[in-house]
Amino acid sequence: MEDVTELSQAVSRVLYSEEQIRAKVRELGSAISIDYADRNPLLVGVLKGVFIFMSDLFRALTIPAEVDFMAVASYNPDARAHGMVQLIKDLETNIAGRHVLFVEDMIDTGLTLSYLLKNLRARNPATLEICTLFDKSRRRLINIPIKYKGFDLPDYFVVGYGLDYREQYRHLPYVGLLKAEVFQKNGE
Ligand code: IMP
Ligand code: MG
Repeated sequence: MEDVTELSQAVSRVLYSEEQIRAKVRELGSAISIDYADRNPLLVGVLKGVFIFMSDLFRALTIPAEVDFMAVASYNPDARAHGMVQLIKDLETNIAGRHVLFVEDMIDTGLTLSYLLKNLRARNPATLEICTLFDKSRRRLINIPIKYKGFDLPDYFVVGYGLDYREQYRHLPYVGLLKAEVFQKNGE
């Protein structure tokens, strides 16, 4: 197991500091609290990447709200290109008539999200909106309207604050770029 100093040495550049992320999450939490007052929204996340953002965002709310999670199986790029996603954990909540806010750590191509939104829409929620901390909009393959957005991200692969590379680095409090040698070590 690598220690934290070694982990942070794997990062070549911090793109968003802990403070910047904290301020942004607070901002998003305030906006959501205003828009969803008296609507008892259900925040829905897809495991695992979103768990850190979700826990901070949820605590930044000042209104009654509920939370639930889904999980999807990892897919090969071919299946994903056809919008195929396997649900391995569904919501526990019946969302019919509910105000659902879909919370994402990162929207990249949008393929996974687009499948899940279709799936959720079929359950007749009263409203269904999207909140993402990071948006790689230049890589989008499907148009997805985003109501709450944290940061626009260039087409970089980043880690930290829940985002992983091979399941590592999720716990870094900031978001940064991995050094090239980390990928090289894995033959990528
Ligand atoms: P997509 O929008 O269907 O392409 O998938 C987005 C998902 O890919 C995100 O929820 C992340 O789990 C993962 N992902 C995309 N870009 C990154 C990144 O830069 N670092 C870590 N995970 C990423
Ligand atoms: Mg994810």
